[in-house]
Amino acid sequence: MANETTSETLAALSIEQKAALCIGSDFWHTTAVPEHNIEALLVTDGPHGLRRQPDDGDHVGIGGSLPATCFPTASALGSSWDPALVREVGQAIGVEARAQGVAVVLGPGVNIKRSPLCGRNFEYVSEDPHVAGRIGAALVEGIQSQQVGGSVKHFAANNQETDRIRVSAEVDERTLREIYLPAFEYIITTARPWTVMCSYNKLNGTYASQHRWLLTDVLRDEWGFDGVVVSDWGAVHDRVGALAAGLDLEMPPNLGVSDRAVVEAVRSGQLDIAALDRTSARMLALLERSRQRQPAESDAAAHHALARRAAAESIVLLKNEGVLPLVDDAELRVLLVGEFARTMRFQGAGSSQVNPTRIDVLLDELASLLPSSRITFAPDADAAESALHADVVVACIGLSPEDESEGYDRTHIDLPVAQVELVHALAATGRPVVVALINGSAVRVSDWADEVDAIVECWLAGQATAGALADILSGQINPSGKLTETIPRRLADNSAYLNFPGEQGHVRYGEGVFVGYRGYDAQQVDVSYPFGHGLSYTDFDYADLSVDLAGSVTDGDLRITVSCTVTNAGDRIGAEVVQLYVGDPVASVARPPRELRAFRKLQVAPGRAERVEFRLVERDLSFWSSSHGRWLAEPGQFVIEVGASSRDIRLRTVIDLDGPPAGLPLTDSSTLLEWLADPVGRERLHAAVGVDANGRPNGILGQPAMAAMIGNFPLPSLVVFPGLGITHDVVESLLPRQ
Ligand code: BGC
Repeated sequence: MANETTSETLAALSIEQKAALCIGSDFWHTTAVPEHNIEALLVTDGPHGLRRQPDDGDHVGIGGSLPATCFPTASALGSSWDPALVREVGQAIGVEARAQGVAVVLGPGVNIKRSPLCGRNFEYVSEDPHVAGRIGAALVEGIQSQQVGGSVKHFAANNQETDRIRVSAEVDERTLREIYLPAFEYIITTARPWTVMCSYNKLNGTYASQHRWLLTDVLRDEWGFDGVVVSDWGAVHDRVGALAAGLDLEMPPNLGVSDRAVVEAVRSGQLDIAALDRTSARMLALLERSRQRQPAESDAAAHHALARRAAAESIVLLKNEGVLPLVDDAELRVLLVGEFARTMRFQGAGSSQVNPTRIDVLLDELASLLPSSRITFAPDADAAESALHADVVVACIGLSPEDESEGYDRTHIDLPVAQVELVHALAATGRPVVVALINGSAVRVSDWADEVDAIVECWLAGQATAGALADILSGQINPSGKLTETIPRRLADNSAYLNFPGEQGHVRYGEGVFVGYRGYDAQQVDVSYPFGHGLSYTDFDYADLSVDLAGSVTDGDLRITVSCTVTNAGDRIGAEVVQLYVGDPVASVARPPRELRAFRKLQVAPGRAERVEFRLVERDLSFWSSSHGRWLAEPGQFVIEVGASSRDIRLRTVIDLDGPPAGLPLTDSSTLLEWLADPVGRERLHAAVGVDANGRPNGILGQPAMAAMIGNFPLPSLVVFPGLGITHDVVESLLPRQ
């Protein structure tokens, strides 16, 4: 192919060669066609570091992989709210991919955390699509800056592990459009990933791998995706149906079966050759893109340092009653409790597992940052006795690898009983207690949080988790992470509680758009720590909110500029994540009280003030109207809130949005009330019904109380009620038969 153009190569390929091009040749490679100089591409997991199996590996994808930097998992990296940092991480993963000959990295994962129970939440960014999209796009941009492809996964509605291979996610279109698709949409339209990985599950009864609406109508026709859709590993059930729906590459290959089925389908006329040509052309384009990749050397020490910086930015300080940061002092006695202080857990189990280049140890890292202090260690239950001889206790607790993993979901969000008992025992000593949490997804803290002095949520922050935790505990780095998922008081408070993980092959997304904080806020439920929460060792003041509207909905050029001033009121440099939420309190559909529409992370020196500016457009005020089949911003009042978390709103204002009422399309199933609510419909109805001698509207239009009572009937159904003035002729004049 080197000397041929893509279209020449395509024209020269046989049907058999095209069919082969669209399935892999083994677990990690695409198929080479040497006659046309088409080489095989190597694809490799995963989102937060490479899992490149050696060429003599087990070829089923499960065994060990070559050493690579294990960066923070998505749950952690998302909590940094820092796309620039995530871009750097992506770039480093891209460099390692170049060094290991990898053409496409299978990540990021941007599925929404619908329930805290999802076993794979550690691989996903957030319960909110805005932040998931921004973080996912940054990772793709970083990886692809190295001429290595990204693969955004798992498209779509893969929000649980239970029965993940075949469960049907039953999701209405509005919920899909507002919650489960926007992160993909943003990444695809801005970062232009080379590939998208479809999910295993069915969406409303059809496997994602053969879902035409998803893979072609939305992904390509609406969003303009021009890359390759790759199957999740083993997600293809009907190769021909999948290809016709828009799935390009089957991985791993069902060799001898899938390729033959495609050839036969083309020969029999069941599959249009044009579909196979389109797919082959996309595979050739992928090859062209990957040919720009140059080999590289990766610097393990530099990447470890980046992994540590990223982890430190991701760690969230949930609570601090003055005990942190620890100040180095010959008099200070620090007791580290829990095995994690010696053997850190830093990643989750499953296909994303990286073989790290090195692993930090908290005991060593803290000792080197607090050289004068006395740091001791107690692994378990005896710890309370030792605590009596300490000035401060740092308890490292969390989940074990078996508690959360790809392949299955959790059944509760509690910590192991022994760990909770340990916290109670330590707190009972009266010594200041800091809890460092090591877990990939939210755990319940409500039964002990009040007893301790500080809580540091580390997530699974990669191979440098321990070093980064030491940076935070010692104050070497001022914490700036914020939660991208709510920590509920009880699992039962979560809006998906009654519909997770579904039953008998179906999971109904009954909570609709009320996912995560959208649900907790709408139901006014107390939470332990809200979405967006995270403390710093300094304080930030918010002031001077201003909102400027330009353009209009009518002209399609609405622009809203929101700005405010953030001041570092403390005496340390620190970074704040300023969050902007929008609410539409009076709408024709149920809408969440507030939805994140923008954020900015800024570093502010002590005593300094920074002006922050956000731009909103019509889509930011809109919901997906199923009746109109489009995004809709209804005229009226909108609440603009700026805050330090979804429940720490510092500035608030209300804006008025002008514009024509959207109205519903009036059809033969529109009710009398809907006709009356629509200005044009109302006028036409009045004209058709006419007035009496006194100028009063005839029939029911002159009787408002009656109209309110039976106004829910569709107009044509009222013809059988005598005396209402809604006759066959009236209906016929308004809704002529086609
Ligand atoms: C996972 C994907 C992963 C693939 C290859 C699948 O089981 O769902 O996320 O990329 O395996 O390892």
